[in-house]
Amino acid sequence: MSDTASTSTRTALIFGGSRGIGAAIARRLAEDGLQVGLTYVSRPDKADDVVASIEASGGTAFAIRADSADPVAIRDAVQQTVDRFGGLDVAVVNAGVLRHGPIETFSLGDLDLTLAVNIRGVFLAIQAAAGAMRDGGRIITIGSNTAIRTGFAGGSVYAMSKAAVAAMVKGAALDLAPRGITVNNIQPGPTETDMTADLIGGIIDLVPLKRVGQPQEIAALASYVAGLEAGYMTGASLTIDGGFVL
Ligand SMILES: NC(=O)c1ccc[n+]([C@@H]2O[C@H](COP(=O)([O-])OP(=O)(O)OC[C@H]3O[C@@H](n4cnc5c(N)ncnc54)[C@H](OP(=O)(O)O)[C@@H]3O)[C@@H](O)[C@H]2O)c1
Repeated sequence: MSDTASTSTRTALIFGGSRGIGAAIARRLAEDGLQVGLTYVSRPDKADDVVASIEASGGTAFAIRADSADPVAIRDAVQQTVDRFGGLDVAVVNAGVLRHGPIETFSLGDLDLTLAVNIRGVFLAIQAAAGAMRDGGRIITIGSNTAIRTGFAGGSVYAMSKAAVAAMVKGAALDLAPRGITVNNIQPGPTETDMTADLIGGIIDLVPLKRVGQPQEIAALASYVAGLEAGYMTGASLTIDGGFVL
């Protein structure tokens, strides 16, 4: 495994890069000059749109169908990225699901899906990416401010999954520190995407800044964490939520 690539040849793989926050991060890292692979599971049309917009701006991107709950698909997505770009420098583990409902009636199916994608999928992606990544690389997970405080009734299982991610990142950062690979967790608050389309209205009043975040704002933080200048930060959970968690 070679050392960090030079800035002009750095590469990234975004797990869940077809919509919302992941799509904004894919576009932003491409603007930053990285070659970008992105995965999707259900919306090839949206993945193709992201790739086309990156290419229209002069960047390089490709899309891979890879269910984050499937270890074979995750490893294959990493391998395809390495084969195509010659290495991997940045992995953004963004794919996630939000199932909400009161604890008394929350279904086992929704519990299992949340665990499979939001926790097991994060583990699989970190493990596969770390194994293929050049030394000095960056791993970024997308957690949630609900890891610190459950911001809404019915959010217990989702919050649990995101708290697990924050905890996983701390240990993974120590495991990968000898290789200079940083592992950090971005914790957005309410952000305007498909995931929150039905929820945002009732949340705005709870946000001190009285607005929701935009995916591009989360992507700007990811850009910094993915950059070479962020090499002294690892194991951190960075909350970006309009002051929701004070
Ligand atoms: N929006 C918020 O307010 C907010 C706040 C805090 C944290 N987050 C977290 O931020 C991340 C992105 O959320 P978002 O709001 O951008 O969600 P979104 O608009 O629903 O987009 C979800 C993305 O994840 C992908 N995805 C979902 N399940 C997948 C799976 N099993 N395998 C591969 N890809 C999968 C989707 O792919 P397809 O397009 O193919 O379905 C899509 O690209 C999630 O981890 C979420 O928990 C969001």
